[in-house]
Amino acid sequence: MGILDRIRSRARPAANPADIRAYFNRAAGDEEHYPSTIDPRIWHVKLVLEHLGDVPEGKVADVGCGKGRFARIVKERFPRARVVAMDLAEAMLRGAPADLERVAGSMTAIPLATESMDAAYATESLEHAVDIPRAVEELARIVKPGGRILIIDKDAEAWGRLETPQWERWFGRRELERLLARHCRRVWSQPISYWEDVPPDGLFLAWFAEK
Ligand SMILES: C[S@@+](CC[C@H](N)C(=O)[O-])C[C@H]1O[C@@H](n2cnc3c(N)ncnc32)[C@H](O)[C@@H]1O
Repeated sequence: MGILDRIRSRARPAANPADIRAYFNRAAGDEEHYPSTIDPRIWHVKLVLEHLGDVPEGKVADVGCGKGRFARIVKERFPRARVVAMDLAEAMLRGAPADLERVAGSMTAIPLATESMDAAYATESLEHAVDIPRAVEELARIVKPGGRILIIDKDAEAWGRLETPQWERWFGRRELERLLARHCRRVWSQPISYWEDVPPDGLFLAWFAEK
């Protein structure tokens, strides 16, 4: 943990998991800020699909899936794949399509078997996980050796640009690379924007890993 993280964790009281779940169960009703669909041309979606690799009949987990806006596209693209949509908030999961395998749980104790997934991804959910090393360990645990992991989240360098609940954290590029490298043999990252042809403005990073 760097000096900035230590200052931030002292300044912010520990989060109660029940409060975080209640917050997102309420937030599920806010379709504007927590939408159930996403334009498939958005770069974040393309990165998920590209990085998943060869999963036409494989198993993919969307960890912290919200209403499954990414998972529904993965399922459309790979109709024979088993797509698991996992989230802390049941009300979010109720908004996800019924042809996904919807699972309630925390990404710090993912209720899926070890090495049961060909790929796993987490878009803007790790920032809420509180115990970040544990959540990254869990993402890696459920993926088979050789399987892919993708995390899309916000850059700590941009902290302050948006309003955030008190438990939210953003990440240094090297910080998450190091956490992933504890469990994965290949790790890399890059700044991204919503549109591939628009230069990244520093808010989003994508971390890629191969276990
Ligand atoms: C900003 S939303 C992103 C949802 C989705 N990934 C997307 O991009 O649409 C954050 C999601 O993370 C979920 N979440 C928060 N803490 C979590 C945890 N510990 N385990 C699993 N999901 C969690 C919330 O319930 C919420 O649905």
